[in-house]
Amino acid sequence: MPIHTTENIWHNGNLIPWDKAQIHVMSHVVHYGSSVFEGIRCYKQPSGAGIFRLPEHMARLIDSAKIYRMPLPYTAEQLSAAVVDVIEANGVAPCYIRPIAFRGYGELGVNPLTSPVEVYIANYPWGKYVPGNQGADVCVSSWNRLAANTMPTLAKAGANYMNSQLIRMEAEINGYSEGIGLDTNGYLSEGSGENLFLVRGGVLYTTPLANSVLNGITRSSVITLAKQLGIEVVEQALPREMLYICDEAFFTGTAVEVTHIRSVDRIQIGDGTMGPISTALHDEFFGIVNGLKPDRHNWLTPVNVKVAEPVGV
Ligand SMILES: Cc1ncc(COP(=O)(O)O)c(C=O)c1O
Repeated sequence: MPIHTTENIWHNGNLIPWDKAQIHVMSHVVHYGSSVFEGIRCYKQPSGAGIFRLPEHMARLIDSAKIYRMPLPYTAEQLSAAVVDVIEANGVAPCYIRPIAFRGYGELGVNPLTSPVEVYIANYPWGKYVPGNQGADVCVSSWNRLAANTMPTLAKAGANYMNSQLIRMEAEINGYSEGIGLDTNGYLSEGSGENLFLVRGGVLYTTPLANSVLNGITRSSVITLAKQLGIEVVEQALPREMLYICDEAFFTGTAVEVTHIRSVDRIQIGDGTMGPISTALHDEFFGIVNGLKPDRHNWLTPVNVKVAEPVGV
């Protein structure tokens, strides 16, 4: 889906016009992938709009930057305030928010430390990512996820998404809507841009951080909701074949939200429909983010915008 432009982008503390948010081709990030970023959703509420887990996203951005020794001259609170500012200035909600920090134009050696850090925050209207409420037909990728102690998966870094692109392209070319990567030991890891959950025998399983996954904020939200619903949650290394014999499976992520998986490698999961535990968690998640159930964890930061209908849903 093409980007729907907005008026302003936040850059290093100021709002600048969308078209002026440009970088030089010789910027460090262009050559060496030296960026860290976030993806956040702002949801329509019964009155106004709310940003989902904004402080947690900003804390993760700061963690990602710290891993890459990238000094960010802003606190999580300042970055959160900047997100609210840019949404309100653009008057666009519901929307997707993309904060990004990267090594800009300075020197062109591999060492990034001599290139300046630039921070931008954009927002734009955006809808569903994995198409189809009937469930996603996915595959196990022939590509592994990032090996431990190579590219740190707890950093949401632009360069990690070269691996995601390989997984995603292979899946689409072979007629699947998404690919699931195994880690380099052959255990389940995650999708190209989402965490993975399986249900078997009434227990909810997800892959732990040590299996090369991003510490997903939707993942942690779903774990919290599951525990509250009295569902047993187990984080453990999972063999590939659990995908084929589980009763239910779903992805979580800012983009995919909670998306039911219908089949893996053309093997149907359960009876192919969204099972009871996935449905309970899906409904709980959407109830909260859409403001239809109480926001009992204070997950939503209000923004003062006249909301429009979501684009692309
Ligand atoms: C590789 C990867 N895993 C998992 C996720 C889900 O994370 P979150 O729920 O914080 O969006 C994402 C999306 O950001 C991702 O890109």
